[in-house]
Amino acid sequence: MEGSRSSDGTTVGLLARLLDILREENVFDSDSEPVIRFVQPEQLRGRMSVDLTEEPATREDIETAIRQTIRYSVRTFSPHFHNQLYAGVDEYGLLGSWLTDVFNTSQYTYEVAPVFTLMERLVIERSLELIGYPPLPDGDGILCPGGSISNMYGMVLARFRKFPDTKRTGIAGLPPLACFTSEAGHYSIGKGAHWLGLGTDHVYKVKTDEAGRMRPDELRAAVREARARGHEPFFVNATCGTTVLCSFDPLPEIAAICREEDLWLHVDACLGGTLLLSDKYRSRLTGIELSDSVAWNPHKMLGAPFQCSLFLAKGRNLLHEANCAGAKYLFQQDKHYDVSWDTGDKSLQCGRKIDAAKLWLMWKARGTKGLRESVDRAMSATEYFFARIEHRDGFRLVLPRYEGCNVCFWYVPKSMRGQPETRDWWDKLYRITTKIKERMMLEGSLMIGYTPLSYKNHGNFFRMVVTCQPPPTEASMDYAIEKIEQFAEDL
Ligand SMILES: Cc1ncc(COP(=O)(O)O)c(C=O)c1O
Repeated sequence: MEGSRSSDGTTVGLLARLLDILREENVFDSDSEPVIRFVQPEQLRGRMSVDLTEEPATREDIETAIRQTIRYSVRTFSPHFHNQLYAGVDEYGLLGSWLTDVFNTSQYTYEVAPVFTLMERLVIERSLELIGYPPLPDGDGILCPGGSISNMYGMVLARFRKFPDTKRTGIAGLPPLACFTSEAGHYSIGKGAHWLGLGTDHVYKVKTDEAGRMRPDELRAAVREARARGHEPFFVNATCGTTVLCSFDPLPEIAAICREEDLWLHVDACLGGTLLLSDKYRSRLTGIELSDSVAWNPHKMLGAPFQCSLFLAKGRNLLHEANCAGAKYLFQQDKHYDVSWDTGDKSLQCGRKIDAAKLWLMWKARGTKGLRESVDRAMSATEYFFARIEHRDGFRLVLPRYEGCNVCFWYVPKSMRGQPETRDWWDKLYRITTKIKERMMLEGSLMIGYTPLSYKNHGNFFRMVVTCQPPPTEASMDYAIEKIEQFAEDL
């Protein structure tokens, strides 16, 4: 493994070899291999040479380990992987990712990341435009290590705007600060409340309507209740694309309440934000421009490589003031270039992975037009899937309609059809869901996730997720339907 980085040296040789192995193992021919070769953890340990030893591994051992990794990893880029809110990787995004890894630098200063700093600025500028926020410097943004952290940035900015002294003095002298999210909102808001010292007891979970959207009347009532209990409301998280049902909260009504009550409105558009790229679907996020901050994860539906999450906010300098620590060894003010390009002190982190280049290269290569087409294609595949199961024997929808890229459903096997739907019947159906899942995992031919939804009193159902990568086809949608029917044939 020793060697130089010259073109005849080992590093380049190894990279070229890796590409060959990826080709030999059909990694780029996503339909030819199972989605997963599932083995139980102890067995996997026995089959893989994962041990770390005193002596270095031979070149052969390394190659074997790489091939084993490929063999037993989940092929998220298979057309039959619908298990998470992400799937395959955009090929230009992958190039962007490899390119940044080769340069192994941090996003904090122009000094060490000149090109990547420009790319991050561009990606932020375009994203501000997409949302309808003011341009830099009145709008601002930063790439974060995931949507959970982007949501926490929203909480930090909200608190800083209302109580700027907390940066120095902490929250000990304040009444308990209350935040609001819907019962369908992502759990990162609760984690943020913990990490920021607010306490999870001060997260008010606002009730949703039958379609899984936050009810504005319930939000108003929750704010009233919080005040009556001596809590100080400061932050509302609305969601565009909830994790399970992909529902979109009614932003104009929520924004009006936030204005009246002087509350920061953050929009968790980690999943649904990708629809902003589409002329046809962006109206699902109407009102997003009225918010104070937004989180958007291009690493979900759009297919940017992990991790790629944007936090965007209104307010000149707010992001910097809320987070800056002014470290002199890094952010010297007497450098020989315009130090406003050193953006790293807006961040909670010191070293920060270059995430912008992945999205930048996707956007550059495809143009906004190409990204829009891939979103429209994913949405039309979702609609096709929905239309095919809507009235199909055995399929039972959780919601009558879906607004985003998730479709949730049960599959009722033939043996259970036409029977009274008692408690026991439903409990059996929930167990059948896990049985079908087990069969798909063991066969390795399809991956769709399942979940219960306690706030709707639902037990396990399937959540089919359709993303932009690999570009979905009607054939891949048909395949999922037919496979589920096969797995349940004898149940
Ligand atoms: C709506 C929503 N927001 C935020 C997140 C968290 O994003 P990340 O996994 O990038 O932390 C998720 C994750 O699934 C999500 O569904």
